[in-house]
Amino acid sequence: MCGISAVTGSEDIVAILYESILNLEYRGYDSCGLGVVGNGNVTVRKNTGGVEEVNRKEHLTKLKGKTGIAHTRWATHGKVSRENAHPHNSADGQFSIVHNGIINNYEDLRDELMAQGVVFKSETDTEVMAHLLEKTFQETGDIEQAFIQSVKRLEGSFAFCMVSARSQQTIYCVRQGSPLVLGLGTKSNFVASDVNAFLQHTRKALVLEDGEYATVTPDSVTVRKTADGSLVSRKPIRIEWDAETSRKGGYAHYMLKEIFEQPQTIRNALAATQEGVERIASQIRERRDTYMMGVGTTHYVAQAGQYFFSSLAGKYLPVVSSDEFVDLAVVGPQDMVMAISQSGETYDTRRGIAHAKDQGARTASIVNVMGSSLSMSTDEVIMQGSGPEICVVSTKAALAQMVILLRLALETGLQEGTLAAEQYDESYSHLKALPDTVTAVLNERSGFVRNLADKTVGYRNWLMLGRGIYYPMALEAALKLKEITYLHVEGMAAGFLKHGTLALVDEEMMSFFLVPTPEEKELNQHTISAIEEVKARKGPVIGIAFENDKRALKLLDHAIELPPTPPLVAPLLELVVAQLFSYFSALKLGRSIDKPRNLAKSVTVG
Ligand code: BG6
Repeated sequence: MCGISAVTGSEDIVAILYESILNLEYRGYDSCGLGVVGNGNVTVRKNTGGVEEVNRKEHLTKLKGKTGIAHTRWATHGKVSRENAHPHNSADGQFSIVHNGIINNYEDLRDELMAQGVVFKSETDTEVMAHLLEKTFQETGDIEQAFIQSVKRLEGSFAFCMVSARSQQTIYCVRQGSPLVLGLGTKSNFVASDVNAFLQHTRKALVLEDGEYATVTPDSVTVRKTADGSLVSRKPIRIEWDAETSRKGGYAHYMLKEIFEQPQTIRNALAATQEGVERIASQIRERRDTYMMGVGTTHYVAQAGQYFFSSLAGKYLPVVSSDEFVDLAVVGPQDMVMAISQSGETYDTRRGIAHAKDQGARTASIVNVMGSSLSMSTDEVIMQGSGPEICVVSTKAALAQMVILLRLALETGLQEGTLAAEQYDESYSHLKALPDTVTAVLNERSGFVRNLADKTVGYRNWLMLGRGIYYPMALEAALKLKEITYLHVEGMAAGFLKHGTLALVDEEMMSFFLVPTPEEKELNQHTISAIEEVKARKGPVIGIAFENDKRALKLLDHAIELPPTPPLVAPLLELVVAQLFSYFSALKLGRSIDKPRNLAKSVTVG
């Protein structure tokens, strides 16, 4: 998806506007631009590349003005090029827009406008809106009317910010399926895709809902329904995230910072609403089925949750990835669907929840970003409190979600009577001790992890293998490694290896095992058998194992050793180590760690 931003103020706003897309860059970073109102038109500077690179090329920060828009792009329609970068101006230069989302009927509108003699400069769907504005203004003579009537011609999911030379200090913005939030400042007002854009300047936010638009000046904000223009009155919310958390804080990369923040995010997840946990747990017990749904990392988080509910609550919860949910899940009024989403904006996940609601099912969500669509649209929500996760690949947010799923499974088991109170209490004591264990491992084992990464990063093909609860951990570990190193890594159940994939194993194929604790005897034994299967075919084997597991440590060519750890939390500890291994591998390869090629932090388009 993309990051859109707009600022209007009583003084020059270009520095703030530029900073806003630096803060939004994790949302997409293949090109960017700024548009500033002044001298009877809107001056646009834009190009391909990250924000700082484009500033070097186009001197964005040399622009001057009190009202402007900005954009950082993750290409959906049209290649990565200067022409396709935003903002897009109308032919007369009087209107300029930035857009996040997809206009499904843009070809028809494009044909209609070209038939009227409009010449398009880009391949984007977005540019259609710029020309529609100009045409509609010629008919209405009123900018707000031109804006709304143009919006009503569009089909799809989108968020726009528009400025016009005809209305020097007003921002026009609309939300229809893509996130948009207003920031209410003292000398300036802000509009952006998410609060990270303006958090240094104001914590006072007003979240637009789908089907609403706003006109924003330096000292006023008016929100109306797109359908009929009726006024909307909504109280602002206070964003508790501190701006500093959104910064790197001395770490080389956000990913490293967010890995090292995990002791705190585990504590935050343990402190998240107990009432919410109890309510959702009782719903899980009452419902015929409770589906868990997520995509990418959050799909694997959901799969880990299956093992928690199975072992702690004696309940099987189906999991379907968000992209497949509508086509596969069978839900009705007697079911519940629980979405897991860091951003709370992922298109596929929101579509799955909308489908669940259409089918009459109850809905719940575990979400990180405050004021996000999912956090406002499900019957129940648990805010995980991990703070801003800036790195495109998820680490601290995913681990926190697993902790919350563990709490839900423990609560469900306790309520169901399948979990004795003493096991419940003992489990919570292990969870509460986990942050310190993570701190110790990060401090004492990082050197080993880095050495192993440096030693093995030459392998181009990998298998990541785990059994039982270590299987979804292996899937997530594989995603981490492939996302930031671009190596070909396949996550797999260790028990599945012998049924086909073993054919791939030779000296060139690196197999990385997540070995269960020796206390999990059967699981540990089956994993060791899989290691032996690989070794018998001369495949190199490395992995994570526990100090008190002599057999595994003997079998692995190289092992990252962990202190003896309770089986309940051992998989989470291994995941932290796998995250760090991926980080150091990508560092060795010189990859763009926080913003891997082709990716975006949250894909808010279908
Ligand atoms: C992908 C991100 O685009 O979306 C992943 O790169 C993330 O890191 C996935 O796991 C789901 O995003 P979210 O915000 O719904 O958890």
